[in-house]
Amino acid sequence: MNIIEIIEKKREGRELSKEEIKYFVQGYTKGDIKEYQAAALIMAIYINGMTNQETKDLTLEMANSGEVLDLSTLKETIVDKHSTGGVGDKISLILCPLVAAMGIKVAKMSGRGLGFTGGTVNKLESIPGYQTDISIEKFIENVKEVGVSIISQTLNLAPADKKIYQLRDRIACVESIPLIASSIMSKKIASGADKIVIDVTVGSGAFMQNVESARRLAGQIIEIGKLTNRETVCILTNMDEPLGYAVGNTLEVIEAIDALKGNMPKDLESVVLEMAQNMAKLSGRDLSKKQIQEILKSGKAYDKFVQMVKAQKGDISYIENPSKFEKAKYIEDICVENEGYIQEINAREVGKLVRELGGGKLKRADKIDNAVGVIMKVKVGDRVEKGNALATIHANDLKMLKKAKEKLSKIIKIGDSKKETIPTILEIIK
Ligand code: URA
Repeated sequence: MNIIEIIEKKREGRELSKEEIKYFVQGYTKGDIKEYQAAALIMAIYINGMTNQETKDLTLEMANSGEVLDLSTLKETIVDKHSTGGVGDKISLILCPLVAAMGIKVAKMSGRGLGFTGGTVNKLESIPGYQTDISIEKFIENVKEVGVSIISQTLNLAPADKKIYQLRDRIACVESIPLIASSIMSKKIASGADKIVIDVTVGSGAFMQNVESARRLAGQIIEIGKLTNRETVCILTNMDEPLGYAVGNTLEVIEAIDALKGNMPKDLESVVLEMAQNMAKLSGRDLSKKQIQEILKSGKAYDKFVQMVKAQKGDISYIENPSKFEKAKYIEDICVENEGYIQEINAREVGKLVRELGGGKLKRADKIDNAVGVIMKVKVGDRVEKGNALATIHANDLKMLKKAKEKLSKIIKIGDSKKETIPTILEIIK
């Protein structure tokens, strides 16, 4: 077997065998297969797709490329969640402690920003001291003691996915249904999940641009779940405009802290409640959304978040007093020039703009600036009058601030008629 023949086979649209997939995953993880060869194969997969069998084989091979956590010592069903990616998506920061506050253990491995989307790990790392790469023993101990832990893939969990994920980001091969499905499910399997709830985002700020492709992705994810004995539920959610109001690592953490204190934007709340209810159900608990809201109001979810941050060496004085977070040098509003109704806020463009401000990486060596970003002041469908603020830009570079102001004024489209809004929860697929 050799990699050139494997690339050739996929280039011609033929199905790869389990052994060929294993050869590629193991060879690339070990460094025996060159970056350019892996890039060629991933591009061929991107263009020609994969069969269900290939997708399952790739998932299991990536899941088994490192350690596979055995969480049986927790003696509980482990329910995990994941999102296919979005802009302003701080769901995990709110949902995981909330579910833990419901008495359900959450052991979650999260990713870093990919393309124009943000990553939970980057957000958590904006809390001074927070360690996302704790040992597996400490991870399990935190789940046992606090009820929740969120870590990164820096442990030896699904290292093949980590490598392939980074490569896809650099060669414009993120938006592939089999690659997304296998990437997510390999992480979930490696981190010991028994049951899984996936937020499949749809719209301009998601990798799936329309409901049809999101349904196909959900179908593949559920199929992998069945084949690997992990009950999985997919919730299709609207990501056509940023979720909540804040986009940018620190700004999103601050919005999440506020949400945990009961002050949650409507769209964010819809996703959190739907996901929480489904996670509870998978672990055998029937809770109404009202009951879940009561738990949030009680402050128990906020307390869990503080405990989780503390257990992972984060400085909780920042959580208790978010004004301590370092602010960007320039904080400026952009305002309405012509009154009307908000027609569109293209989430992908907002994500790219925050990345350009320094909030994400364009090149591998780039350093992330956690303080920068955007706080939207409006949502699609809102009425705005001349002079109203549309958004606040947080920048650390004057030139970038000017550029961002010009760009964002164009991204937020205003028109005369009231635009019908899309519901946040689009479909639930089991
Ligand atoms: N999230 C992941 O973990 N993997 C992908 O490929 C896309 C989103």
